[in-house]
Amino acid sequence: MIYRYMQSADLPEVATLLRNSFSPRMRPYMAYTQHGIGSFLAARLAHPQSFPQQFFGVATDESERVLGYAEFTMNSQTEAHLSYICVSEDARRLGVAKGLIAHFCESRTGMEYIALDVFADNSPAVNLYRTLGFTSTGEGTTWLSRRLPPASAELKVSHLTTACAAHGVYGFCEFHVDWNDREMKLGRIGVEILRCFSLGEFGDHNLLAAVRATFPDVTQALVIVASGDLDAEDTICPVIVESTRMKVRVGTVMDRVSGNA
Ligand SMILES: CC(C)(COP(=O)(O)OP(=O)(O)OC[C@H]1O[C@@H](n2cnc3c(N)ncnc32)[C@H](O)[C@@H]1OP(=O)(O)O)[C@@H](O)C(=O)NCCC(=O)NCCS
Repeated sequence: MIYRYMQSADLPEVATLLRNSFSPRMRPYMAYTQHGIGSFLAARLAHPQSFPQQFFGVATDESERVLGYAEFTMNSQTEAHLSYICVSEDARRLGVAKGLIAHFCESRTGMEYIALDVFADNSPAVNLYRTLGFTSTGEGTTWLSRRLPPASAELKVSHLTTACAAHGVYGFCEFHVDWNDREMKLGRIGVEILRCFSLGEFGDHNLLAAVRATFPDVTQALVIVASGDLDAEDTICPVIVESTRMKVRVGTVMDRVSGNA
C-alpha cells in the first residue's frame, strides 16, 4: 500500500469513493457525497495557498488505484481535525484507514492532537477510532430535519446566479439572503436539502416558506447543532443522526499503529 498526498490525477477516483462510501441514508445530507465533489476538491487542490490548513491524503495500490482517502484540517498549530475518511469497500479491514491516519501523523511535525466527529451509529468507524486510542470528549452534534412549509413570497438572494452556478457544478452551495434587515447565510445540498446554520433560521417558518418559493425543489431543512444546545421543543423535529466528538494524542496513535500499546 502506498500512502501519499492527493494529486489532481486522483480526483476522479477520490470523487467516486466519496460519493459511494457513506451510508445511503446520509448521502442526501452531505456535501461531499454530491455529484460535483471532484470539481470542488480540484479547486482546493489548485489553490493550496488559499487553503493552507487543509491536507488530502490517499492510499493507492501498486498500480495507483485509489483505495482510500482522508482529509485533515489544522484547527491550530497543534490540533488537526479529521474531516473525512473513507476506504473502498473491497479494501476494507486491510489497515488502509489506519495507514492513512498514521501517514498524516508521521508527515506533520508539532501536531499533538487529532479530533473528529463520528456518526454514533457508524460502528466500523467508531471501532477504528477506538482501536487507535481516540476517546469521546463528551461533546457531540445532533442533525435535525423538518419539512419546508408551503411556498410564500420569494427571497432576495445576493449573487443568485453565482450561487445557482456553484450548485449546478458542485451539487451544493452557500448563498446569502436579506431577511428582516439582516444578511443571513444558508446552503443547498443536493436537490432537496436546505442547510440552515442556526436553530433560529431552522425554526423560522416564514423564512423557510420564502426559501420554498425561491427554490421550489427544496423540500427539507437541515440543521446541525451542538447536542447540548437543544431543548425539548427542538427535538420534536426528526433527528437524522447524532455525532460524537472524539480526540486522541498523536503519540497514542503512533504507539497503537506500531504495536507498542
Ligand atoms: C470506517 C472505515 C474508514 C474503516 O476503514 P478500513 O480501512 O476498513 O479500516 P482498517 O482496516 O484500518 O481498520 C482498523 C481497525 O478498525 C476497526 N474496524 C474497521 N472496520 C471495522 C468493522 N467493519 N467492524 C468492526 N471493526 C472495524 C478494527 O478494529 C480494525 O482492526 P482489525 O481489522 O485488525 O480488527 C471504512 O469502513 C469506510 O470507509 N466506511 C465508510 C465511510 C465512513 O463511514 N467513514 C468514517 C466517517 S467518520
